[in-house]
Amino acid sequence: MQQAALDYLQVGADYHAFELTPEELPQALPMLAERGARGLNLTVPHKAVVLGHLAALSEAAKRAGSANTLTFTENGIYGHTTDGPGFARAIREEFSIDLRGLRILILGAGGAARAVAVQCVLDEADEVHVANRTFAKAEEVVEVLRGLWHRERLLGPMDPLKAHPLDPDALKAVLDQMDLIVNCTSLGLGPGDDSPLPARVIQPHHLVYDTIYRPARTPLMRAAGQSGARVANGLSMLLHQGALSLETWLGVEAPLAVMRAALRKAAGLS
Ligand code: ATR
Repeated sequence: MQQAALDYLQVGADYHAFELTPEELPQALPMLAERGARGLNLTVPHKAVVLGHLAALSEAAKRAGSANTLTFTENGIYGHTTDGPGFARAIREEFSIDLRGLRILILGAGGAARAVAVQCVLDEADEVHVANRTFAKAEEVVEVLRGLWHRERLLGPMDPLKAHPLDPDALKAVLDQMDLIVNCTSLGLGPGDDSPLPARVIQPHHLVYDTIYRPARTPLMRAAGQSGARVANGLSMLLHQGALSLETWLGVEAPLAVMRAALRKAAGLS
């Protein structure tokens, strides 16, 4: 999708994939700069590893503790993250709704979960719950969220930020109160994977977003579909984080339709 956008905009640049170990990244960065690279996208595990090797970080990257978009400048390498903002745009596109005021349950506590959870707090969601198989990791993410929860608001009897074990029956009472459920676990990537939540705890009023996009209809989406909930997969998040990266590098509006068509083609959807 990036190459399609660069070609469409007639930038005269190439987008390449490089496979590097985290140990190789520090030497690779100056080499890429020397060879005229203007920008770089990073994926796991580089998004966190790179933080110590940058001249400057955007506020969003600082808050998320992660950078997926680097820009090579005269003054060094600038790091930014478009994962959280891309997620917010994806939710707006899929469900015609903003994160503000929503009660949100995030499944998982890895890098993707943290980026999504941070965005939910920055965009003033009403409640953010994090449920993870390893409970201690959910607690760690919620600690990060507490540091960002600056709003002066009356706290009710319920804590608006809460960690939970990933146990569908124990989550039932929380689920009753949720507007949006976001899967950030890797459950669904593997061919025989179960849904992280069974259909019986998902309700028709829920909006269900799975950050997984391959398979296009994930086990969670199937379970949610059975319950009558509205569902979407992570292709829109992939699209919007990429579009925001391109905008960071070029300072022009990304050609979304061109990028979407290229992405769908690459994902085997058209
Ligand atoms: P990413 O950076 O893409 O978010 P990650 O850091 O490896 O990836 O996180 C994977 C997430 O999927 C974690 O929340 C993980 O739960 P644990 O912290 O308990 O490992 C979750 N996950 C992976 N396999 C799972 C499974 N079989 N059941 C439940 N959760 C699972």
